[in-house]
Amino acid sequence: MERTFIMVKPDGVQRGLVGEIISRFEKRGFKLVGLKLMQISRELAETHYGEHKGKPFFEGLLNFITSGPVVAMVWEGKEVIATAREMMGATNPLKAQPGTIRGTYGIDVGRNVIHGSDSPESAAREIALFFKEEELLSYEKTLDTWIY
Ligand code: TYD
Ligand code: MG
Repeated sequence: MERTFIMVKPDGVQRGLVGEIISRFEKRGFKLVGLKLMQISRELAETHYGEHKGKPFFEGLLNFITSGPVVAMVWEGKEVIATAREMMGATNPLKAQPGTIRGTYGIDVGRNVIHGSDSPESAAREIALFFKEEELLSYEKTLDTWIY
């Protein structure tokens, strides 16, 4: 089964959207296998967003993502990486489809509520960056037979 890294950003936590976002992934049928509330250090932020180093929005992005608590999660399920990106909507919330998370809750690209890995390579890298192996659980859910 695929796993992906999802994070409710500081704006999502401050606005009380944690439960709503978790609920959407639960209801879709995905399985929560890792979860923590944390504040991201400058170092971790720079590593996590390393691909954007040098871009005009990089400094603002680092300041924002380290500005308050985030909820880091790992979700598991069939094609969860691409599906989570669809559920999130486009990076710029104004361009995100209505009904997506960003398209429902956002207006500004710098305050787009949620992060999700964009590929299997990113997912593996980001999960390892935020979670220790023992913090990720494998378990059965009885509902799984009604989802697959
Ligand atoms: P990116 O990886 O391109 O988007 P996504 O989060 O959809 O994978 O960019 C990372 C974050 O950087 C994005 O969520 C918001 C921020 N950002 C800006 O503030 N301005 C921009 O022009 C872009 C492209 C991103
Ligand atoms: Mg990205």
